[in-house]
Amino acid sequence: MYQHIVLIGMMGVGKTTVGRLLARKLGRPFLDTDQEIVKREGRSIEAIFAVSGEEGFRQIETGVLQSLLEMPQPTVIATGGGIVLREENRALLRQLGYTIWLQLDAASLVERLAHSQPQMRPLLFREDWPQVVATLMKQRQGLYQTVADYSVAVAAKSPLQIVQEICQIVRVLERG
Ligand code: S3P
Repeated sequence: MYQHIVLIGMMGVGKTTVGRLLARKLGRPFLDTDQEIVKREGRSIEAIFAVSGEEGFRQIETGVLQSLLEMPQPTVIATGGGIVLREENRALLRQLGYTIWLQLDAASLVERLAHSQPQMRPLLFREDWPQVVATLMKQRQGLYQTVADYSVAVAAKSPLQIVQEICQIVRVLERG
């Protein structure tokens, strides 16, 4: 099986932006699990959460992740922040290839999320969303850690700097 490069981490950390750039640099296809979910379902993340709830969304997310094992070429994959919640997803992530955890502190995440498009993030559709970010982060830190082959601190780095760092990491991982 190919070693895909899989980016994990909290909402707002920059997985999609970095993943797109990384794919371009490596000449690989790019896939974002949230975008794939929307494409396959023919409805928005917001609509999926509204109709099927978080559990329904997680089921679809697992189905998408499972299907990525069949991808015909090495790909850069950006994932939704909650992908690590299910044990079966964590096993799938390990199978897919090199998993890189993009890390940022909660205050900086809140700052970034305040300026981002909220539609893809129904978990934050509430007044106290900054508190939700902090809580989710606490709950998920350990899970990201158990899955990650490597972590990259993204604070004060440009997407291009992060891409360069990941390229170096992947070269090291590929040498075994
Ligand atoms: C989620 C993160 C979102 C999206 C969904 C749930 C989460 O993706 O999958 O809203 O549970 O953290 P991003 O991490 O790309 O924002």
